[in-house]
Amino acid sequence: MTHDAIAVIDFGGQYAHLIATKIRRLHVLAEIRQPEETTEVFRRYKGIIISGSPSLASFGEDSAYNKAIYDLDIPIFGFCFGHQEIAKHYGGTVVHGGREWGPADLQVMADSPIFRGLGRTERVWMSHFDSVTSVGPGFEEIGYTTLGESGEPHRYAAIGSDTLRRYGVQFHPEVDDTVHGDEMIANFVLGVCGCTPSWTMDRYVEERVEQIRRQVGEQSVFLLASGGVDSTVAARLLGSAIGADRLNLLHVDNGLMRKDESRAVIELFREFGLDRNLHFVDASETFLSALAGVVEPEEKRAIIGHTFIEVFEREAKRLGIEDHLLGQGTIYPDTIETGGTKRADTIKTHHNRVPVVERMIEQGRVVEPLADLYKVEVRELGEKLGIPHSLVWRHPFPGPGLGVRLLCSHGEAHREGLAEIEPLVAGIAARFGVAALAMPIKSVGVKADLRSYEHPVLVSGDAPWDTQLELAASLFRHVTGVNRCIWNLGPGAPAKVRPLAATVTRERLDLLREADHVVMEGLHRHGVYDSIWQCPTALVPLEVDGRGREFVIVRPIHSERAMTATPARLPEALVADLRRQILSLPGVSGLALDVTTKPPGTIEWE
Ligand code: XMP
Repeated sequence: MTHDAIAVIDFGGQYAHLIATKIRRLHVLAEIRQPEETTEVFRRYKGIIISGSPSLASFGEDSAYNKAIYDLDIPIFGFCFGHQEIAKHYGGTVVHGGREWGPADLQVMADSPIFRGLGRTERVWMSHFDSVTSVGPGFEEIGYTTLGESGEPHRYAAIGSDTLRRYGVQFHPEVDDTVHGDEMIANFVLGVCGCTPSWTMDRYVEERVEQIRRQVGEQSVFLLASGGVDSTVAARLLGSAIGADRLNLLHVDNGLMRKDESRAVIELFREFGLDRNLHFVDASETFLSALAGVVEPEEKRAIIGHTFIEVFEREAKRLGIEDHLLGQGTIYPDTIETGGTKRADTIKTHHNRVPVVERMIEQGRVVEPLADLYKVEVRELGEKLGIPHSLVWRHPFPGPGLGVRLLCSHGEAHREGLAEIEPLVAGIAARFGVAALAMPIKSVGVKADLRSYEHPVLVSGDAPWDTQLELAASLFRHVTGVNRCIWNLGPGAPAKVRPLAATVTRERLDLLREADHVVMEGLHRHGVYDSIWQCPTALVPLEVDGRGREFVIVRPIHSERAMTATPARLPEALVADLRRQILSLPGVSGLALDVTTKPPGTIEWE
């Protein structure tokens, strides 16, 4: 059967693949295409969506794509960079400036088919440096955004031409935080393009099983099984494709696991009948010695990924199964954030995308049945495959585990740019009646599809939840060089924080394990575990006003696909428990709640 299909042109935006996923949820086939492909390729589609990009349209970057797509009588919808390219192509202007991060309110101005059935004000999600400042003939402005507390209009956030069937939006309708983004995509795909919905998830499973059988042939698979959602679903899917006899599972305790995690995982596998060929190895010593003395986040990630493969190969040899293919529960964000598509920037190298794995992939030695799915689809698939709810809905836990939540430092302060940042931060804090400190450390984030490595701001004072979020948004909008806002739960307003030299040690990991355990146990006890998507706890080696050596940060978030996130509000009683229990752990210098959206922060701190 042939399906109506939409082409998603991937300019390397962090969300290009997400656009395809959202379209597939409408039961319409969506395919990722490269910008330079021929007009013949594009002619087959009923519609084209142009993704965002780390390139800047204002400077003409990445402009050498197949512009003949604009001559086709096929509707085109551009998001972010795509929006700016459409504006430019039809005689409008784009400038470098007018950046917005995170939430904005779109004021809908016209009865565009894109906004059919929606309100006049829509909450949308932004991540951009460039802006459209005028449109050419035949186009009209169909929406503008208002910026936070000032309410100042930001023009041309949405443009369109019903005659040409060309539309563009500065925001990202594909991310879950654009509240009615799915409806906007549906209005384009089903309405403007007139696609017939005929594509289903069952079809996806059948095709995937077939694909695994084709790839694996007569061989067997040795799967790295962390006990998380992804590798467990991958195990089930592989099991049904090639049979349990040809599937071996390896659970590695890398020393970076949560408190008592490995024991619990082995029990879970037993309980769910996934222990047929299950092997366990305590490799904590190997991992900790490989990480000894290392500080840089990307270096730590590379070492962890590499060591996984070393341990995997050692165990395969010990078991006499070196000829097995390597199985991994890699999901799509792991690939895209590692810069794994042609144009995407490296936000962070996920442990399952380090060079040694890339080489094995090229040699055809890796099976990754979930590599084009997002967490929400993996969970849907897991439920379809009969995996129990409690396992399918466990919080995601990164492969490098606590290794990426234990920040390390040479002990020197990162003061670059702080002299300009400090007065701006102080001004914003004063407006909200609180105190704020730009911290001399850095954490990883993502801005306009590019990696950022910038300063967090620590805010102290009492303010309602909405005000905390507003203050954070204001910081990100007005202060270049800041990508996180954390809210102090310790006493008073710290005047001086001093980075201390620290690397990955068992002692630090044990402290982080304890703090993380307090948080996890608290989420369960207060009945909010299921309503929160993930809640990393990070440890930063910082002395505060001459006291302590480890600063604890708790980051509860809501998300659906991990590509965007919003801070989750914890019940007051839980916050009080965390304060009491964590601040009394030995060596802890302070505690803060992270109230940063993604973008500009990532979910993890490194
Ligand atoms: P970030 O920090 O990039 O995280 O916003 C997005 C999601 O991915 C998880 N994460 C990882 N998962 N290997 C993984 O398997 C990794 O190297 C890795 N890094 C981040 C993170 O916990 C969040 O759910």
